Formats: sequence, structure tokens, C-alpha cells
Amino acid sequence: MTGSPRRGRGDSTSMSKVSLIGMSGSLRTGSYSNAVIETLREHFADRADLRLYDLAPIPLYNQDFEGEQRPPTVKRMLADIEAADGLVLCAPEFNHSIPGVLKNAIDWASRPAFASVLAYKPVAIMATSRGPLGGARCLEHMKVALDSCLSRVTLAREVIVTAAESKIKDGRLVDEVSLGFATAAVEALLREIALWPRHKG
Ligand SMILES: Cc1cc2nc3c(=O)[nH]c(=O)nc-3n(C[C@H](O)[C@H](O)[C@H](O)COP(=O)(O)O)c2cc1C
Repeated sequence: MTGSPRRGRGDSTSMSKVSLIGMSGSLRTGSYSNAVIETLREHFADRADLRLYDLAPIPLYNQDFEGEQRPPTVKRMLADIEAADGLVLCAPEFNHSIPGVLKNAIDWASRPAFASVLAYKPVAIMATSRGPLGGARCLEHMKVALDSCLSRVTLAREVIVTAAESKIKDGRLVDEVSLGFATAAVEALLREIALWPRHKG
């Protein structure tokens, strides 16, 4: 896992590939959310370069360090988001909301307000939970946070992988129904990117 996603364009093997950044907000070894992103990476490998982004090196947000004062890892993350065609966010529900690690990344990426790298960026969102009912609140809060950044949350059926323990085996999402929902959301994201490429402002 690296903090620097490869750009899909420019080399002969991935000339027409869409470049996507995946973020989960879980730093846990064996994370179910990371497993979903990895499964999607494999599923769409012929069309998209989906890279799971390592958020561990991203420091806590501090408004004293904006613009040129941003830490180098944050500058790199913002440049990588800017360069990507879209994002795939798959987060575990933490205390009925977004995990702090992901929210922290969104907060850094959200500045300057309404003109940030997240503004008009197409984003597919999904959530995971070990429980039978969790995830929906995290998904909703992701939507609200991304709305505030003027991101284009892709219209798709909601993707919530509940009871994740039973649906994820050996680091891959194996439940056909959940996989269908997750791949449909990424298909919608790819369609939107193709229809409305790199629209800004
Ligand atoms: C701090 C914390 C808070 C959690 N809160 C919720 C919650 O509100 N709802 C829920 O369904 N699961 C909750 N969980 C369970 C997580 O969704 C579960 O541990 C999940 O597997 C973590 O995601 P990961 O596998 O991607 O690391 C919580 C877990 C932690 C560690």
C-alpha cells in the first residue's frame, strides 16, 4: 500500500484507464473496508487504476498549516486527489458516523472551501459494519460531509456491507449480493466520469 497512486494515463498498458483513489479510514490490519476496495480494484482492473490510499501518514488537521504551510504528506495527498478522476470511499461506521481518520483526510482536502480538490470530484461512497444494522449512518454522514465540499457523490443504490465478517473472506468481498451493489456503484462512477470528465467549477 502506498501513499502515491499511479496515474492511469501515459503508459501503454493503461492508456485508457480511469484513475481512482480508494480511501477507507480504517488503519486496521485485515480491515473489511480495505478488503472491499481491494476487491473492487481487482474487479475493475482492466478499466480503472484503483489505488488504496494509505492515510496513516496524514497528520491531524490544523488550520495553522494551510496552503503552502501544509505538511508534505498532505500536499501529496491533495495533489493525488486532484490528479485522480474520482474517489471510492468505503468506510466502517464508527460511533454512528465517519471514522476520524477519513474525516481528517476530508477536512484537509476540503480547503480552500468550495474550491478544493474535492469540489466537483466524482465520489462513490459505501460503508461496512460488522453488525447486522450498522453502516447507514456512516454513509449518510459521508454524503453530508461531501455535499459541504461540493463533491459529486455518484447517484447509485446505497452500498452498505453489513455483517461484514460473514461476507469477506481472505481479504476479499465474496458475498455476491453485496458485491453486486458495490460494483454497480463503481460502474455508475465510471459512467459519470466518462460523461462529464474533469468538470471543475
Ligand atoms: C471506535 C469504534 C466504533 C464503532 N462504532 C460502530 C458503530 O457505530 N456502528 C457499527 O455498526 N459498528 C461500529 N464499530 C464496528 C466497526 O464497524 C467494525 O469494527 C469494523 O470491522 C471496522 O472496520 P474495518 O474492518 O474496516 O477496520 C465500531 C468500531 C470501533 C473500533
